[in-house]
Amino acid sequence: MSQNTNTAAPKHMPKDMKEIVALCKRRGFIFPASDIYGGINGFWDFGPLGTELKNNIRDLWWKAMVKCPPIGPDGNPVRIVGLDSAIIQNPKVWVASGHVGGFSDPMRKCPGCGKFTRADHLWDTLLNDSEWGTSLLQEIQEQGKINTDIILKWAKSKGKKLAPNLAVVKNPEVTLSWLATRINGQPESPPSMIEILQHLATAQLNSTGLQDPCPRCGAPLEGESTFNLLMKTYLGVSASEDDKAYLRGETAQGIFVNYKNIVDSSRVRVPFGIAQVGKAFRNEVNPRNFIFRSREFEQMEMEWFCHPDEADMWFDFWMEERRKWWLSIGVGSDDIIFRKHEADELVFYSKKTFDVEYRFPFTAPGFGELEGIAYRTDYDLTQHQTHSGTKLEYMDPMDNTKRYLPHVIEPAAGLTRGVLAVLCEAFTVDPNRPSGMYMNFHPNVAPIKAAILPLTEKDGQPEIAQKLYMDLRQDYMVDLDIKQNIGKRYARQDEIGTPFCFTIDTETSSDNSVTVRHRNTMKQERIALDKVKSYLQENLSKFD
Ligand code: GAP
Repeated sequence: MSQNTNTAAPKHMPKDMKEIVALCKRRGFIFPASDIYGGINGFWDFGPLGTELKNNIRDLWWKAMVKCPPIGPDGNPVRIVGLDSAIIQNPKVWVASGHVGGFSDPMRKCPGCGKFTRADHLWDTLLNDSEWGTSLLQEIQEQGKINTDIILKWAKSKGKKLAPNLAVVKNPEVTLSWLATRINGQPESPPSMIEILQHLATAQLNSTGLQDPCPRCGAPLEGESTFNLLMKTYLGVSASEDDKAYLRGETAQGIFVNYKNIVDSSRVRVPFGIAQVGKAFRNEVNPRNFIFRSREFEQMEMEWFCHPDEADMWFDFWMEERRKWWLSIGVGSDDIIFRKHEADELVFYSKKTFDVEYRFPFTAPGFGELEGIAYRTDYDLTQHQTHSGTKLEYMDPMDNTKRYLPHVIEPAAGLTRGVLAVLCEAFTVDPNRPSGMYMNFHPNVAPIKAAILPLTEKDGQPEIAQKLYMDLRQDYMVDLDIKQNIGKRYARQDEIGTPFCFTIDTETSSDNSVTVRHRNTMKQERIALDKVKSYLQENLSKFD
């Protein structure tokens, strides 16, 4: 069995995000946080299978980075040590890192509903996520051309409910006659969809020109301002401004502030890395796309400290390692790209950055960021050295007259986004099976590795199944499922992406054999009962 083979669905058959989100809830991968209270925007809870999936991805990252890192381009084994720093650090850390001054997103306030929108995501939100935007565009697109009668009908019906503050809803005839003039006046360069939405938001021709509408209620948005993403909290009883602290906005700063402790205590020598996995918090203006952009999420970050002259070599090395790693967990080569940041996108302290991007269903045919690989120079160590007054220079062990601040290459991956990419990649439509789909998880991330299913509750089958289960559970995450008809049980295992099902039937007690059902092909074969464990070991480890 290999990844992404024998799938009934063509590789690029569009995947429906709504179906993926529904499956995640139905099968216990991911739930809205505080679900019974109506949820809370930007927060998600991982259910039993989601936790298992996330932990598997995390452990494979940790293995590739800390427990079993590769051989470096210099022929020496790479050395990376782990860290688990506090989520709350001295607030001066975030001043030094630049987060207090500059970790912000551009946003625009709506005077109509009082909500904020990310200025740089406005059109994407309006065209893809906004309830009224998508409803109106659907009407326009079904017509194939701008038909003011259709818009008028929409404005007087659905528009009233969805976008009460949109100019065309408040004042349909005037707004539409102006739109008609604009369209008729420019037969050779008809306005784009974005311009049309701007026209529909603009009450009348005025000195301010076209207006940008709020994705929620349609009112013209106010101008752009910035919004700091760090989440604040207050420590201690008095909770005054002096007690203000920040939940970490990235795991990386915990690494930089412990750099000296680790060099002094761990006998590491440059080049070496420090890795950390953990929660990060950002007060995102518009959390969206399921767990893609949330306010609480997990990162897997590694800071690689090296001599400045070797930074380019290490950058190329880590790019290749990261490509291999994503592939090793089943995030396919076709759906992943490495995109170089252009000069105008590059943060001022980075000499070079590439984003690892995945073609999510909601970004397709485009891509969304999974990981950033940045050459951060000595920016962070310089900042912390200056702000803390503690010397952070590295002394060359061969020549103690040579001191320098190491340069840093940072592969910074999103664990939460990694889970989403794995879920999206695995979701495979297959009309030929009762579940209509299956999760084509790579076996090394699959939450459940095998299911043990007695065909009936007679003939001692449950007892044989129980014995097999007790044996396998010592080494693997396995599921024993006894009730319901076998078709339904296979369907459930397909939905949760279990690679193998072992079925105990009437023949088992006479010839000591079981049926193995392969998830992707649904093919079945017969193997000896006492070979099940070695079979599983062999077939799972092939993919390590
Ligand atoms: N230390 C560098 C750093 O934090 P970043 O690009 O801001 O870089 C790294 O974040 C990764 O963290 C991203 O590539 C993404 O996978 C993940 N990430 C960032 N913001 C996120 C959010 N609001 N929700 C989920 N994941 C997020």
